[in-house]
Amino acid sequence: MPKDLYEIGEVPPLGHVPTRMHAFTIRRERYGEPRDAFAREIVPVPELKPGHVLIYTMAAGINYNNIWAAKGHPADVIAAREKAGEPEDYHVGGSDGSGVVWAVGDGVTNVRVGDHVIMASGQWDEAADDIRMGGDPIASRTMRVWGYENNHGSFAQFTLVKDVQLHHKPESLPWDVAGGFLASVATAYRQLFGWPPHTVRPGDPVLIWGGAGGLGTAAIQLVHQAGGLPVAVVSTEEKAKVCRELGAVGTILRTEFDHWGRVPDESDTQAYAEWFRGVRAFGKRFWAEVGERRSPRIVFEHTGADTLPTSLYLCDNSGMVVTCGATSGFQADVDLRFLWMRLKRLQGSHFASPAQCRMAIHLVESGRIDPCVTKVVGFDEIGEAHQILHENRQPPGNMAALVNAAPGQTGLDLS
Ligand SMILES: NC(=O)c1ccc[n+]([C@@H]2O[C@H](COP(=O)([O-])OP(=O)(O)OC[C@H]3O[C@@H](n4cnc5c(N)ncnc54)[C@H](OP(=O)(O)O)[C@@H]3O)[C@@H](O)[C@H]2O)c1
Repeated sequence: MPKDLYEIGEVPPLGHVPTRMHAFTIRRERYGEPRDAFAREIVPVPELKPGHVLIYTMAAGINYNNIWAAKGHPADVIAAREKAGEPEDYHVGGSDGSGVVWAVGDGVTNVRVGDHVIMASGQWDEAADDIRMGGDPIASRTMRVWGYENNHGSFAQFTLVKDVQLHHKPESLPWDVAGGFLASVATAYRQLFGWPPHTVRPGDPVLIWGGAGGLGTAAIQLVHQAGGLPVAVVSTEEKAKVCRELGAVGTILRTEFDHWGRVPDESDTQAYAEWFRGVRAFGKRFWAEVGERRSPRIVFEHTGADTLPTSLYLCDNSGMVVTCGATSGFQADVDLRFLWMRLKRLQGSHFASPAQCRMAIHLVESGRIDPCVTKVVGFDEIGEAHQILHENRQPPGNMAALVNAAPGQTGLDLS
């Protein structure tokens, strides 16, 4: 007999949509540290809309963006959505995930009920004028990050997505792995291959910040695959070892330098000279790791305020600093002289196109890229997992949370 609420891991009859579900929510009155902001509660299953798909969630990826959602800063995502007329006064995060198609809305043709899928985080309106004019959907005014800017992410038994977000899950991949890598691997793929002419070429030195992180582990392997020379920056020797095993030709411990953050004003000649000494020493260290006096043609950024001044200085003439994030702060100093005098490019990059997602999934499926999903937590540990990420205590690679899946499970028994 179909029920209106199921326990975590309990499978409803295929296609039966209960009215309520277990979810990990964030509410405004709890904004603050992730472990306090997230809480498990029972909420309505989101309503299916045309062009949308309801997914029975098997696993969810843990990403940095829901730390911001938990803090309510730099954006109050719940207030923003209420202002736009959405009724929910809570946020269900989760911008990575895997699951089973449970119901499809009008107009959906790319998936059917029962399909096993990976959810990508980019959500947009394909009928939007800027997309119809041939624009990149990621640059569309309608682009939103599902499970961060939009509600009904993967930290719940059911999640609501648009059909454009869906990719078929390779059968061999366990749900927890499938749900935990796409935001990292596809974003890194676009940063390194999506901005011609600055795509990785054989022999190109590439500086990779946060080499042992979700993005970093993907970036090292992608640069290595393309014949480039990845040099990874990390904070511990243990992480450096992981980076070398993934293909880094060199590693730098950022803890050996202290010139991070805002650049001193030039009028403070002593402080500025000290900063300059730090950045030059870091540059020399980069050359030592590459084994020749060559600066990075591409700097893989996402660490933000602490590192951007160094990235801009170190980047080779006519090279590119490409950034998709700002872990250490989003107000970063840019010395314009380095940009124009040396013809450098500072490029923003955000997630990935469907084709780039497909490429990332293919690279993982074919075993060319290790998705590095190294820590899988239970559903009730979603808040704590974000706290660990917030405190930079996560193991190298990506973290995922089980929702309805068991560890290592690849299919779903519907009998
Ligand atoms: N725009 C997009 O589509 C998109 C997609 C994915 C991720 N992102 C963003 O990219 C960033 C990284 O994501 P991730 O999943 O790779 O996170 P992650 O797994 O936590 O890795 C980030 C790494 O950054 C390093 N780090 C932390 N603070 C640092 C600092 N002050 N200076 C230098 N390095 C520092 C840490 O390594 P060490 O301590 O070892 O140096 C950590 O391993 C996040 O801000 C995230 O929001 C954006």
